[in-house]
Amino acid sequence: MKPAPFQLHRAQSVSDAVALLGSFPDADVKVIAGGQSLVPLLNFRLARPDHLIDVSAVAELGSVRDEGERIRIGAMVRQAELVTSPIVNERLPLVAEAVSHIGHRHIRNRGTIGGSLAHADPAAELPAVVVALDAVVGVEGPNGRREVPAASFVTGWFTTDLADDELLVDVIVPAMTSNGDGSLEWGFEELARRDGDFATVLVATVVTRDPTGEVTDARIVAGGVGSTPVRCRAAEAALVGSARVADHAAAGRAAGNEVEPIGDVHATAEDRVELVEVLVRRALLGARRVVAAATTASHGSGVEQSPLSDAPRSSEGGVRVNGELRALDGVPDRRLLTDWLRDDLRLTGTHVGCEHGVCGACTVLLDGEPIRACLTLARQAEGRAVTTIEDLGTPDDLHWLQEAFRANHGLQCGFCTPGIVLTALDLLGRNPNPTEEQIRRELSGNICRCTGYVKIVEAVRAAANGPSAPRSPLPETS
Ligand SMILES: Cc1cc2nc3c(=O)[nH]c(=O)nc-3n(C[C@H](O)[C@H](O)[C@H](O)COP(=O)(O)OP(=O)(O)OC[C@H]3O[C@@H](n4cnc5c(N)ncnc54)[C@H](O)[C@@H]3O)c2cc1C
Ligand code: FES
Ligand code: FES
Repeated sequence: MKPAPFQLHRAQSVSDAVALLGSFPDADVKVIAGGQSLVPLLNFRLARPDHLIDVSAVAELGSVRDEGERIRIGAMVRQAELVTSPIVNERLPLVAEAVSHIGHRHIRNRGTIGGSLAHADPAAELPAVVVALDAVVGVEGPNGRREVPAASFVTGWFTTDLADDELLVDVIVPAMTSNGDGSLEWGFEELARRDGDFATVLVATVVTRDPTGEVTDARIVAGGVGSTPVRCRAAEAALVGSARVADHAAAGRAAGNEVEPIGDVHATAEDRVELVEVLVRRALLGARRVVAAATTASHGSGVEQSPLSDAPRSSEGGVRVNGELRALDGVPDRRLLTDWLRDDLRLTGTHVGCEHGVCGACTVLLDGEPIRACLTLARQAEGRAVTTIEDLGTPDDLHWLQEAFRANHGLQCGFCTPGIVLTALDLLGRNPNPTEEQIRRELSGNICRCTGYVKIVEAVRAAANGPSAPRSPLPETS
């Protein structure tokens, strides 16, 4: 399936986006940010908007600001940036940890904090974490700005407090700092069937202790157990006033008793209750301590601007594909990057498997970062550089990574191979000598249905040191 026709409008500023949202009173208008939830819905025609307002190039939505006691995160900050941002890692470590569990690197390179909150998937990490941290969601509409406490932002299954003509602009999160001689501890646990899958159940905890170790405040939030993140108040009450580790188990039991999940294909309601109990206990026992108090005085001025913004890198128009400038003239707004590459440019090495971001066959590099081409509109790549498998080598002159796959029997039918090779190329660029575990984790977003992963991992290991890497001793079969 492909998206039904729509008109794409690329907003240049917040006021531009808000004006555009109000410009089509009788039509179905939606914002598109990273597209990692919306484009699957478009591809399957579960959503058929008339107009899409693309906010992915709006610079004012793309920064992380350290404002001293609070951190302001723009709606367009990508999930990948939250994982690596020095400000977020130092001042909101719970956010950095939780976001590292979202999807795969390809998804996080495009998905945004604003999109995740506005989409409000009940099993998503961010909606639960912002409740645990008592954040506020900033919203801009025709009547100006308003701020909504995170606890009341998500109102039901995939539903939020946002009106149709409003834009989520930022998330303001109190910095995680310990008070006086006391301490602040945080924990995050989730169970997902595979690395990168949505969580079956997740738990975030934030606990404050006084100098004697007694708990003075506790926040325990569970996701995947209802239509909205669930604050487990009985579990929190079981901790406050106590310094005993034994009370972690009591808090886990209390949390299990107060959630009322429903069952689905992934887990029964009873399984989910048990998971809440276990994950709360684990999150509390494995909690990490925040040590930021002493250095707080130096905070308050940092700003990080999004390096993954969709703002065009050049004014030449079109897209640089494998180094060659290709025009977008006449390309329909709804054309996916995969289809533009394959059908219009005849670069058929980019494969199409699932069209909802799960298989990884369509992986390409956008300005050097791996993404899902099936979840990106061709026009969103304007002014940027796309690398496909055709840029690496030719059958007569293989790239050293392709050569390692050939020599180590890292492919059979080859359907998944372009996506896996580009994912591995990105990994080796960041980490020239990855462990087997790191390779498996990075490749977990690329599904192979015939080779089996052992040979693929061996090929990446063999390639790990570049063109001079040792090759497999196995004889060639073809
Ligand atoms: C294979 C796969 C695995 C995934 N795994 C996870 C996971 O484990 N955990 C998880 O949390 N998510 C997961 N996701 C979803 C991913 O995190 C999305 O990035 C996120 O849910 C939506 O963010 P986005 O920027 O892509 O938003 P989009 O897809 O662009 O938009 C999503 C919705 O939010 C609205 N919206 C977006 N931005 C704004 C804004 N600023 N103001 C108002 N409305 C807005 C859009 O109109 C749309 O309705 C996964 C996705 C895929 C494809
Ligand atoms: S992830 Fe894009 S086709 Fe499967
Ligand atoms: S080689 Fe056939 S799907 Fe991976």
